[in-house]
Amino acid sequence: MIADSVWVLTLVCLALLTAVFVFVIMNSADKQDYSEVQSRSTSLRIKWTVFLFALGIVVTLATLLPFPIPSQAGAGDATVVKVVGKQWYWEIDKTDFNVGELIEFHVTAGDVNHGFGIYNSDDKLLAQTQAMPGYVNKFTHTFDEPGTYKVLCMEFCGLAHHSMISQLTVR
Ligand code: CUA
Repeated sequence: MIADSVWVLTLVCLALLTAVFVFVIMNSADKQDYSEVQSRSTSLRIKWTVFLFALGIVVTLATLLPFPIPSQAGAGDATVVKVVGKQWYWEIDKTDFNVGELIEFHVTAGDVNHGFGIYNSDDKLLAQTQAMPGYVNKFTHTFDEPGTYKVLCMEFCGLAHHSMISQLTVR
């Protein structure tokens, strides 16, 4: 379906581009006075440059101001949970939490790269980070609802990758 749309879009764009080329070639022999066009296009170009510059500043500020990412900054009063991913299981030193509790996960791996992902009962991914040997990746998370949450491995890590399943309980 999408592939069909992409094809149609590609053909339409090609046709438009071809039309532009044909138009330019057919009119290339005409002699015209360009001074008026030139001054108009210069003024348009200046306005466009100023607009893009201003837009660039606005977009840069809007997207950079939220840094540093709060989840990486670490919070003093968070419950720290150490997580180690290994072929093919998770070592998680605390799996029972309270609703609203600020939890800081410290995630690493004991052998190869794994992906630590927390899913709710609808299999929606809530939070994740890489579990890498020699590194500790940190992020904070707060559960809004009680329930049982699944921990799955998100990085193919060998034969039994699919069985790296664990659970977190939130009351
Ligand atoms: Cu561990 Cu996939």
